[in-house]
Amino acid sequence: MLKNKLNLYFDAKNLSGFTFKIFQKLVSSQFTSLLKNKIERMSDKATLKIDGQEYEFPLITGTENETAIDVKALRAATGGVITIDPGYKNTGSCKSAITFLNGEEGILRYRGYSIEELADKASFLEVAYLLIFGELPTAEQLEKFHTDIKSKSIVDEDVKKIIDAFPKNAHPMGILSSLTSALVAFNPSSVNVDSDEEMYNAIVKIMGKFPVLVAWAMRKIEGMPLNYGSKSLGYVENVMKMMFEKPNEDYEINPIVKSALDKLLILHADHEQNCSTSTVRIVGSSHAGLFASLSAGISALWGPLHGGANQAVLEMLEAIKEDGGDTKKYMAKAKDKNDPFRLMGFGHRVYKNFDPRARIIKKAADEVLNDLGIDDPILDIAKGLEQEALNDPYFVERKLYPNVDFYSGIIYRAMGIPVEMFTVMFALGRLPGWIAQWREMRLGKEPIGRPRQIYTGENLRAFKTINNR
Ligand code: SDX
Repeated sequence: MLKNKLNLYFDAKNLSGFTFKIFQKLVSSQFTSLLKNKIERMSDKATLKIDGQEYEFPLITGTENETAIDVKALRAATGGVITIDPGYKNTGSCKSAITFLNGEEGILRYRGYSIEELADKASFLEVAYLLIFGELPTAEQLEKFHTDIKSKSIVDEDVKKIIDAFPKNAHPMGILSSLTSALVAFNPSSVNVDSDEEMYNAIVKIMGKFPVLVAWAMRKIEGMPLNYGSKSLGYVENVMKMMFEKPNEDYEINPIVKSALDKLLILHADHEQNCSTSTVRIVGSSHAGLFASLSAGISALWGPLHGGANQAVLEMLEAIKEDGGDTKKYMAKAKDKNDPFRLMGFGHRVYKNFDPRARIIKKAADEVLNDLGIDDPILDIAKGLEQEALNDPYFVERKLYPNVDFYSGIIYRAMGIPVEMFTVMFALGRLPGWIAQWREMRLGKEPIGRPRQIYTGENLRAFKTINNR
C-alpha cells in the first residue's frame, strides 16, 4: 500500500530514478510503519500525459492518509477528456467525515470510534446520534433526541389504507420503500429543509416513523394488527414490541433479543459510499426531500448483491440443508463461470481481508442461539461453508470472505423474524447512516450528481421513412 502511494507520489514528483532508488531503499527499511502514518507529501500534484502534453492535477489526502487525484478540472484542461470507471471501483464521489473503512486491514469506524467498541458499549440510538451529529451524545442530548423522536412517531392513519392495498405476499422492502415515499405526502414540511430546525425536524420525524413502518410491513405479511410501541420503552424495545406483540398475550421484552438487535442495528448503521448510500446522496443532490431520498436508498438496498444478500444467504443455506448439507456442490456452482450462482454473503467491494462486522455477528450468533436454547443446523452449515471457502484457492485468490450478510440472517431467524424481513432490518439499521450522509451532502452544498459517459452508439444518420426501412 505504502509503495503504491510512493510510486504515485514519485510519479507525480518525477524525481530522477537514482534519487528514487535511494529513497525507496530507505523506505523499505523498518521506517515503513513510521512513515506510513507520517508520510509528508513532497508534492501535492499528479501529472497526466496525453499526446505528449502534460497536465497537473491536485492530490488530496484524507485524515487517514488516503490519496485522491482531484480531476474536477480534467475535462476543461484537456479539451474534453474524462475518466471512466464502471462500478466506481477506483472513484471517490465525495469527501466524508462520517465513516472510515480500511478494507485491507478490516477496519470500520464511525466518526473515529471503532465498530468493535461501539457494538460492545453503545446503544443504537447513541450511535444514530453520533453518525448524524458527529459526537457521542451527553445524557441530556440523548434524552432530548429520544423525546423528540417519540413525539413524532405517530404515522397518519391514512397510511394504513395504503398498507391495506398491498397483497399479503408483497415483499416488505417494496412496502417499506413505498410507505417511506408516501410519508412525504403526510409531512410536506419535511421536503425543503433549508434551515437547521427544518432539517432536525425532518430527521426526528423519520427516526420516529420509520420503525413503525418497518413493524407494520412485518405485521402486514403476517396478517397481524398494526400497533404502536409504548412511550415508556426505549427505541429498540419499541421496535420489538411493535413487531412481536400478540393481541392475546402479555408482551415481555427478551433481554437477549434486545441486546442482539441493538448490536445488529449498530453494525449495519453506516458503511461509507456503498450502493444504497450513494443512491441516497445522489437523489438528495437534486434537492429531493430526505424521505424521497431514503425511499430510493431502500430500493437500492433491496438488490441481492447488496442488502438483499442476507435473505439470499438464508435461502441458500436452506437449499443446502434440503440438499443433505452438500456444501461442495454449492462451492462448485459458485466457482463455475457458466453458473450465475454466487456464494451469497461472501465477497465485498472494499473488504479484502475480513469484514469486521461478520466476525462480531458470527460470535453473536453463537451466543444468541445458545442463550435462546436454539440448535439451528443452518448455523453449522454456514460455519462449514466458511471453513471450506477460507481454504479454497478460488476464494482465497479473490479475497472472498464472509461479509455482514453471511451470519446476520441466522440471528434474525432465531428472533422469529421472517426471512423476507431480513433486508428490512438492514434498512432499519442503515437509516441513521443514510440520514447522516444525506445531511452531510446537503450541508456541504454539493452540486447535483450527474456523471458523464463515453458514447458508443451510431454516428449521425438520416431519418428513413417507414417504407424505406
Ligand atoms: C453489502 O459496499 C458495501 O459496503 C456494502 C455493504 C454495506 O454495509 O453497505 O457491506 C453491504 O452489500 C455486502 C455484500 C452483500 N452481497 C453479497 O454477499 C452477494 C455476493 N457477493 C458478490 O456478488 C460480490 O462479492 C459483491 C457484489 C459483494 C462485490 O462485488 P465486486 O466488488 O464487484 O467484485 P466482482 O463481482 O467483480 O468479483 C470479483 C471476482 C469475480 O471473479 P473473476 O471474474 O475475477 O474470476 O470474484 C468473484 C467474481 O465472480 N466473486 C464471487 C463472489 N463474489 C465475487 N464468486 C463467487 N461467490 C461470490 N460471492
